[in-house]
Amino acid sequence: MKKFILIYLVIISSCIACSNTNKASDDVSEKVFSVTYDNDSAVIPDNETLILYYSKMGSTRKVANKIYSLIPEAKLVEIKSGIGLLKAVFWLQPFNRNAKIETINIESDQYKQIILCSPIWLQKIASPARTVINTMPFKDKQMHLFITCGGHFGDGGQKKLQKLVESKGINLMSLSIIKMGGKSEDEINGQTQEALLNVLPTQKIAS
Ligand SMILES: Cc1cc2nc3c(=O)[nH]c(=O)nc-3n(C[C@H](O)[C@H](O)[C@H](O)COP(=O)(O)O)c2cc1C
Repeated sequence: MKKFILIYLVIISSCIACSNTNKASDDVSEKVFSVTYDNDSAVIPDNETLILYYSKMGSTRKVANKIYSLIPEAKLVEIKSGIGLLKAVFWLQPFNRNAKIETINIESDQYKQIILCSPIWLQKIASPARTVINTMPFKDKQMHLFITCGGHFGDGGQKKLQKLVESKGINLMSLSIIKMGGKSEDEINGQTQEALLNVLPTQKIAS
């Protein structure tokens, strides 16, 4: 038993250490970072767009609300979870487990495009958003990811996230990363708008 606990603690410490090791090249710039993927895309009407977001401390909510204000005919839905950070850090994130979330009552057939907004936890998408990717019937739908972070979401983590989404048959169209720390509301809104225009240039964006 002692051996098991020791091994467990070593694994967790390594995960935390890895997530905190910033290579200068991996640091998210103060500017918006957006990457688009080479998957078949179609222009989807605003009212067939679903904005889903999870936010533990409120930052990602600001991003999702801004996107909603720019695409007001889309549907905005919060992913709700009572997950505690200790459980997330020591169990769900290291072992890629789904967090329990409240049922999301939507007619998923109605939506062809999903904009999923989530924070990064330990270089992985926060577990409540992972639950959505793993369990919602989003196969063949287009997805745009809007990720918020404190300052470091490395290339390796981005690639793993891309792989996770694509393994579910979801057409991942883009990933945008917005570094939140120390930014004013105006800066966050401005960067969110910039990211949205980067990845959805043909979407009818409200002025
Ligand atoms: C448990 C935990 C782990 C985190 N891990 C990272 C990380 O690996 N890299 C990073 O840049 N930010 C990390 N952050 C910071 C959050 O991603 C960032 O503050 C995010 O904007 C919070 O979103 P929210 O306010 O919507 O919950 C972490 C935050 C928490 C609570």
